[in-house]
Amino acid sequence: MIYKNISLKKFNTFGLDCMADCMIRIRNEKEAISLFRGEISWKKPFLIIGGGSNILFTSDFKGTILYPEIGGIKVEVKDQEYVIISAGAGVNWDKLVEWTVNKGYGGLENLSLIPGLVGATPVQNIGAYGVEVKDTIEKVIAVSIDDGAITEFSKNDCRFGYRNSTFKSENKGKYLVIRVYFKLTISPLLNLNYGSLKEEVTKLGSVTLKNARQAVINIRRSKLPDPEIIGNAGSFFKNPVVSSSAAESLNNRYPQMPSYKDQSGGTKLAAGWLIDQCGWKGKRVGDAGVHDKQALVLVNYGKATGKEIYNLSEKIIKSVQEKFGIDLEREVEVVGTI
Ligand code: EPU
Repeated sequence: MIYKNISLKKFNTFGLDCMADCMIRIRNEKEAISLFRGEISWKKPFLIIGGGSNILFTSDFKGTILYPEIGGIKVEVKDQEYVIISAGAGVNWDKLVEWTVNKGYGGLENLSLIPGLVGATPVQNIGAYGVEVKDTIEKVIAVSIDDGAITEFSKNDCRFGYRNSTFKSENKGKYLVIRVYFKLTISPLLNLNYGSLKEEVTKLGSVTLKNARQAVINIRRSKLPDPEIIGNAGSFFKNPVVSSSAAESLNNRYPQMPSYKDQSGGTKLAAGWLIDQCGWKGKRVGDAGVHDKQALVLVNYGKATGKEIYNLSEKIIKSVQEKFGIDLEREVEVVGTI
């Protein structure tokens, strides 16, 4: 399914009205294989997009957008403790989470309501409320863009890190994810340690899998703008990881600054807090703005261009650098000229 001169407005959650020369919708594994074996001619460069929930287009895309629509959720193996399920890259992420929770399978509930499609979740190792998708991923099946070969990536091969994986580093642009396998628990052990999650679950009544999902949904809805209403891509920046000594000296100056021990041995700071402290929360420059309930989220109030949102992000980076000496890194992928 090849489309020419297509508007990307519906394909990015910022709602930016950019154009792509071409878009190819990939409906199944066979189509992916024949595309990359060269059986169909198509124009490079290319960009794979899922839900378009982590992309900032700063100009029209002069190439081909590859859009996986591979569906299907399957139970692969089940015993008394675990179930392995698989989902096609084109399955809506939250629909998958909802399906697992309805079946009583535990592991994905804290990742409720994250926008996007299944195929993108291992690429950027999505995470929220103390859980990362890597915690449940068993393996990832991908197609090599070079030659159409089907390749299996074990959890180890994926080289997961904070909002990172092999698909964003050494294997960037080399594979299209087609199916993801998750190992879930039959008797879920809930992880309610993050922030106000436990409190929110208690408000809902008993501590159940369904209530854990509902609590996450309630918290997200209270803090994060719905992209259907206000364009955004969730967290625009990553939470920076600094050395423990750098964190300690900042903590001496700002005792109320949130900080968390990171697996790497360093300390993770809350970018949202740093940006908030610089006075950006709720600020607006034209139609580009900083969300009024979570400073880590940049928004498009309607007619902002990708360049305007990018320029706002540059100003934020500069002021956080001036006030705290910390370099923020963007979490969203910037695509286009700047
Ligand atoms: N904070 C402020 N002001 C703000 C925003 C945050 O003071 O404007 C403070 C909060 O009070 C809290 C701390 O900063 O003490 C952390 O805030 P929050 O719990 O909202 O989480 P976050 O670190 O800002 C991360 C993820 C989110 C994820 C939440 C919940 C990243 C880049 N972001 O945000 O992920 O939903 O934790 O787990 O790691 C995303 O990646 O798109 C995303 C939304």
